[in-house]
Amino acid sequence: MAGAHNRSGKLWGGRFAEETAASVEAFTESISYDWRLYRHDIMGSKAHARMLAKQGLITGNECDAILQGLTEIEQEINDGTFVFRPELEDIHMNIEKALTDRVGAAGEKLHTARSRNDQVALDIRLYLRDEGAALDRLLAEVQEAFTRQARICLGAVMPGYTHMQRAQPVLLSHHLLAYVEMFGRDRERMVDCVKRINIMPLGTAALAGTGLPIDRDFVARELNFPAVSANSMDTSADRDFGLEFLFCLTTIQLHLSRMAEELVLWSAKEFEFIEIGDRYCTGSSIMPQKKNPDIPELIRGKAGRVTGSLVSLLMTVKGLPLTYNRDLQEDKEQIFDALDTVKASLSITAELLANSEFNTERMKEATYGGFMTATDIADYLVTKNMPFRQAHGVVGRIVTLCQQRGIELVELSLEELQQFSDRIEKDIFDVLSVEGSVNSRTSAGGTACVRVEEALVRAEQQLGIA
Ligand code: ARG
Repeated sequence: MAGAHNRSGKLWGGRFAEETAASVEAFTESISYDWRLYRHDIMGSKAHARMLAKQGLITGNECDAILQGLTEIEQEINDGTFVFRPELEDIHMNIEKALTDRVGAAGEKLHTARSRNDQVALDIRLYLRDEGAALDRLLAEVQEAFTRQARICLGAVMPGYTHMQRAQPVLLSHHLLAYVEMFGRDRERMVDCVKRINIMPLGTAALAGTGLPIDRDFVARELNFPAVSANSMDTSADRDFGLEFLFCLTTIQLHLSRMAEELVLWSAKEFEFIEIGDRYCTGSSIMPQKKNPDIPELIRGKAGRVTGSLVSLLMTVKGLPLTYNRDLQEDKEQIFDALDTVKASLSITAELLANSEFNTERMKEATYGGFMTATDIADYLVTKNMPFRQAHGVVGRIVTLCQQRGIELVELSLEELQQFSDRIEKDIFDVLSVEGSVNSRTSAGGTACVRVEEALVRAEQQLGIA
């Protein structure tokens, strides 16, 4: 075995006279977390071996031995019987060493025309391509949970807020469908990001390409990549795809955190807009009466963590000279942690939504007492030919009067209203009611029931839940 003249026992140990310090092995290893790339590492190695055989760089028998050995190793890792060795640094060398131990010289030929620099880029790209698809499914489930609630609550009114102040009445379903749009954009963003992940890096070798007669397009076809990367130095140095992926994850988690904040507020006594199911809340160890919204709080809190992963990798890449530098090994823990966090948050959100009930009575009550149809009176005056700025002033004075008398806009009589403008007629009362206000907003994308129902049907069709 090659180790005979190799004091360090490493696959790269030939030029070293001394063993690696234990502290260095502990500091540089990545196997404790990159083991989870094993399936994709093996998938990539198999495609590489088939290419080497096709090009005559290894024999058919050697290729078969490699493929067989890799299949067995994958099975052992699946079964939990494979022993990972930190002194072999990472998943790539753990697998290669196990292969060589198993099939001998053929295993030593696997790394022909390949470097760990292009190998690790390949593994992460294959891994993220699959995870992108998994995230798409989870996002669709969350969209479905929101859409189902929007269907159940169709017709219910609530205050719409700006600056967290009651602004204009809207349909609860309109509010819920806003999240369906946000998660829809998250899905599109991920699909777009995967386009740039889906580029085949192998064949870059360390940084400059190789003089051996490889066939990169063959490997790309084997692994279902639509294209091979164009510049070997760029490929070796590039982690843009990881940054983009983390940005996509961060945006998802930020969207979730905005929803979470609303759920926390809405479940407070001051709002009582929502009742989260008992199974999805937690209690207090001292206050017996408490039922706390810990799930949305944690979702909100984890937005900090996911954003941190993005910022961490941004800073890792900043100022790095071309091409590969070991700094890049720092990409994986951030990507894995952010992925786990976002996936867990998405799947608990779908459950949480399905197990919550909106208190539509309370929401309707909350539409009273904020002069929320004031804009409707101004719009009404505009239809009676008053310039909008004048109308704004007139309604402002009407609101002041109501405030002084402690009454609602609907409580004013026609005569009282007419003192502010002779353009006001009996039909003013059509726009003063909350329902009238909501249903008047028929502009495309508006909150009128007709528009919201159209949007709901569109969402149901897209999600296949019609
Ligand atoms: N574990 C390494 C990483 O994740 C693999 C590439 C190592 N390449 C090297 N030249 N040391 O980046």
